[in-house]
Amino acid sequence: MNFPNDFVNKIIEGDSIKIMKNIPDCSVDLVITSPPYNLKNSTGNGLKDGRGGKWSNAALINGYSDHSDNMPNDKYIKWQIACLKEMFRVLKDTGAIFYNHKWRVQNGLIQDRHEIVSKFPVRQIIIWKRKGGINFNPGYFLPTYEVIYLITKPNFKLAPRANAYGDVWEIAQERNNSHPAPFPVKLIERIISSTTAKLILDPFMGSGTTAIGAKKLNRDFIGIDISNDYCVNARKRIEDFSKYGIENLNLFQDSNVSLCGK
Ligand SMILES: C[S@@+](CC[C@H](N)C(=O)[O-])C[C@H]1O[C@@H](n2cnc3c(N)ncnc32)[C@H](O)[C@@H]1O
Repeated sequence: MNFPNDFVNKIIEGDSIKIMKNIPDCSVDLVITSPPYNLKNSTGNGLKDGRGGKWSNAALINGYSDHSDNMPNDKYIKWQIACLKEMFRVLKDTGAIFYNHKWRVQNGLIQDRHEIVSKFPVRQIIIWKRKGGINFNPGYFLPTYEVIYLITKPNFKLAPRANAYGDVWEIAQERNNSHPAPFPVKLIERIISSTTAKLILDPFMGSGTTAIGAKKLNRDFIGIDISNDYCVNARKRIEDFSKYGIENLNLFQDSNVSLCGK
């Protein structure tokens, strides 16, 4: 694969680490990504075994089409560190990674993602406050937020005036998308418009939301996902966005590809 021709404004099907190895050092302005959270590796009867337990309607109950989301925790941590190393390597000195993750309670204790991100220069944690939620566990309050780690190279700066957004972002989750764990487009727009990045990488592109946000704001993107189904649908979604705009985006509703989740 040749950079940039085989990468820029393309959705590439494959393993994110293997594909990123073909991207030269210091060639990307920004990474925005949400990796699989490994939710099916759970100490509770939540998403653990596919029967559903208390979460029988949860979108991620079937995992992803080509990823089980159920690694032993130590293996998962090593994998995510290896992914972040590649993201960091391809980033310019003025670049940053917006790495979205979720904290949860395991065995009665918080599992934050410190073991993954502590190897990297985290400059800030942004709270993405979602709407609503559900919690049957009487031992802790209903979790309503996810985190976005802002991991930066030394010379990263926000776009003028973007620092006024603050570090708690209240943005409703995406409801009209058959991918089991999509970003809301508004979240991506907030991130991209907070930077002057020209080329944006998402190595876990899923339904293509980062690409839609990039196109909407006239930036370039590189998208990677392991699932053929998700890649096909992301490409279609980007095409629909180019034809019809954001309001009439076909969010998989006409697709005959069988997607996991909901
Ligand atoms: C949380 S989802 C990302 C959703 C995306 N942010 C969106 O807006 O639709 C994680 C994605 O990682 C993909 N994935 C899992 N393992 C992968 C791997 N080894 N390489 C590339 N993609 C992978 C899954 O197929 C899934 O689409």
